[in-house]
Amino acid sequence: MTANGAFRHQMGLHRLEPARWLELTHPHLAEQLTQKHELMAARPDDLLVVLPGFESAATQVQALITEEFALQGQPAPDYQAGLHPLDAAARVVREDLCLHDMVDGQLVLVAGSVCFPTRWTLAEKVGRPISAIHAPVPGLAEDVGDRIDSFVARLRPGVGSWRSNWSILPTDELCLPGHHRDLPVVDSPDQLWFRTERQTLRRLPVGAGVLFTIGIDVQPLSIFRMDRWASADLADRIESLPEPFLAYKGLTASHQDIVEYLRS
Ligand code: HEM
Repeated sequence: MTANGAFRHQMGLHRLEPARWLELTHPHLAEQLTQKHELMAARPDDLLVVLPGFESAATQVQALITEEFALQGQPAPDYQAGLHPLDAAARVVREDLCLHDMVDGQLVLVAGSVCFPTRWTLAEKVGRPISAIHAPVPGLAEDVGDRIDSFVARLRPGVGSWRSNWSILPTDELCLPGHHRDLPVVDSPDQLWFRTERQTLRRLPVGAGVLFTIGIDVQPLSIFRMDRWASADLADRIESLPEPFLAYKGLTASHQDIVEYLRS
């Protein structure tokens, strides 16, 4: 939101503090890792998509993760042999991993292990630049498209950034491929869930590779009842969303009820 209350997409980036890159001691780490393993066994073709030829960049991802385990005082991770190095890397952390690298002079998504997508489909994104990945998001290109591209182009190894996104969804399911527009409508905001994505961006130490990570948290929307300021703030944010972005977020039918619920 801008100062006058009009909606505009924001970069919302913050510098990552040392040893705060990945959430290695997250309270839901164990259950999210178990779910990742189950999902990878059940439907690997949807959740792991890799272009050939980027194994060495993915091996750098493993090295960064190993370094982060050491920085956070955790025992070194054991990467499963025989898997693509990005797949093996993604199985030791709760975060989903998206690796970008240069193809024909353009930074594109070359490999992803994404078990917990928030209504998007990895196969539709691999091989595409960040601007094309964001094409379904109304207003994003106009508001910050150029800034995203120049920020990513200027990323330097060793200095990472994080940002967050939120969604309100009718389910607490973690694995949600598909599209936002497919969301079913629920009867009452009490049945809704508040989902946040903690996203990070880092340049790999060698070459042009960039790693994007996504960590998911889901809580009942009713949790806002316990904090009237947070609740009022979320209501204001929802009210500021223009119709195309409300539709993208699957909130066209329910947003008025949600705002009323948050203010009651
Ligand atoms: C500074 C960098 C970035 C910014 C500011 C940004 C911002 C956003 C925003 C505002 C949305 C809409 C989400 C919502 O409110 O529901 C979005 C969606 C998304 N972003 Fe980003 N993003 C960034 C980088 C990336 C990168 C590097 C990837 C790489 C995979 C990515 C993948 C996605 C995907 C897959 C979606 C969902 C698109 C869809 O619905 O099809 N983003 N992003």
